[in-house]
Amino acid sequence: NKVQLCIDRDFTISKVDERIYGSFIEHLGRAVYEGIYQPDNKFADKNGYREDVMNLIKEIGVPIVRYPGGNFVSAFNWEDSVGPKKDRPRRLELAWGVVETNQFGLDEFVDWCKKVGTKPMYAVNLGTRGIEDAKNVIEYCNIKSGTKYSDMRIKNGAKDPYNIKLWCLGNEMDGPWQMGHMTAQEYGLKAGRAGHIMKLVDSSIETVVCGSSSLYMNTYGEWERVVLENSYDTTDYLSLHTYYGNAENDTPNFLASSVAMDQFISQVISICDYVKAVKRSKKTINLSFDEWNVWYHSNEQDKKIEKWCEHPHQLEDVYNFEDALLVGSMLITLLRHADRVKIACLAQLVNVIAPIMTSDTGAWRQTIFYPYMQASVYGRGEVLNTVVKAPTYESKHGDAPYVDSVVVTDEENEALTIFAVNKNLEEDFELTCDLRQYAGYKVVEHSVLTHNDLKAENTEQNPDNVKPVDFTKGSKVDNGILTSKLPAKSWNVIRLA
Ligand code: AHR
Repeated sequence: NKVQLCIDRDFTISKVDERIYGSFIEHLGRAVYEGIYQPDNKFADKNGYREDVMNLIKEIGVPIVRYPGGNFVSAFNWEDSVGPKKDRPRRLELAWGVVETNQFGLDEFVDWCKKVGTKPMYAVNLGTRGIEDAKNVIEYCNIKSGTKYSDMRIKNGAKDPYNIKLWCLGNEMDGPWQMGHMTAQEYGLKAGRAGHIMKLVDSSIETVVCGSSSLYMNTYGEWERVVLENSYDTTDYLSLHTYYGNAENDTPNFLASSVAMDQFISQVISICDYVKAVKRSKKTINLSFDEWNVWYHSNEQDKKIEKWCEHPHQLEDVYNFEDALLVGSMLITLLRHADRVKIACLAQLVNVIAPIMTSDTGAWRQTIFYPYMQASVYGRGEVLNTVVKAPTYESKHGDAPYVDSVVVTDEENEALTIFAVNKNLEEDFELTCDLRQYAGYKVVEHSVLTHNDLKAENTEQNPDNVKPVDFTKGSKVDNGILTSKLPAKSWNVIRLA
């Protein structure tokens, strides 16, 4: 089995926008409480932020975190989450059927972001609320002083403005489950008006409007067109969301889901450009893939959660090895669209469908942690137009290549990284790539994530069951030609310099 990568040093797709390695923290389950915030935990700092979790987030190098929802945001009052904690109300949290204590909120989140070395991507409630509240919260965050809400922030202890640059205008407003769900026309108008008033407060911000909750929504396509037609001038990005699962235990089809993701991205780009053409606009709308992951393991157990408890174990998918392979392929898909996908958020970051899990006694890395971390650490620079000549197999999403791959170069540091997933469950592939334009480059490291059990998991008791191993002996450069072995069912990071 052979796969050939064809690249040219001058044929680049785009510089990688580091924000594609973003993630997401929602007030949901144990993402916030017992995840990033647990004052009585032995790992908590003086603010109650868990340092063991912060260290793992730093290891990934997460550049942005979307917050506070998700479905949660669509009935959320941001004012509940600022000021003295003792005065903050307990609220029915209707999206997930629990009670929200508001002991961690906007003020803490901005502070936590600084400590963890990330930037906030803040979502406003366009479900039960509207443009008045969107105006107020950006005044609270981004105006220096001397007005009602900026002075309220100062009184709450934050002298300097938060300067949040990236704003989501609502969440999944196309979904009938969304509180305040609307038609595309209603939402497009509302988002356009919210973006307008928010940019009057701070013209330096960027806005993300809601696209479809998945490729399979009945309104998909028309939703994007109508929303953009009504909000084009004040919008910077259109969002996409997708989750895949393997409930049928059909691994080849599951691993082919990245083909569907690729089609989704290409189609949404076409719709953005259609609206651009109709409007004779010079402005290009880029994409924010601000929820993506595998999600299905916890569906059954979540049906048993009792109503109105506080931060239950909810959406706690325990990921296995094959999930990590798909997450690797999804990262490759995002990179291959680096010219238009400028933001992406792995949903989510801690405990809730997350790469990081916690218990009272520690934090550990799920299987999907590894491709996410390695792409974030090594996938910065310029994406090369990577032609992958690989055999394909039939899948429910169409023909799927056995090997997904992309090459990222970092000319400044004279480094080149190849990401590759071999989806063949039985057989190795031999990868070749002509690197004669990169004279003198040698293999620095070939790291492989593989396991003989597709269902192998990392748990609190066995946290290192699935983790990358060094396989540098699997790659060599001879006369400028790279040859690498990609073991059956594997995620590979081949680094040259
Ligand atoms: O990430 C979990 C949920 O998935 C989010 O709240 C929602 O936006 C999506 O449906």
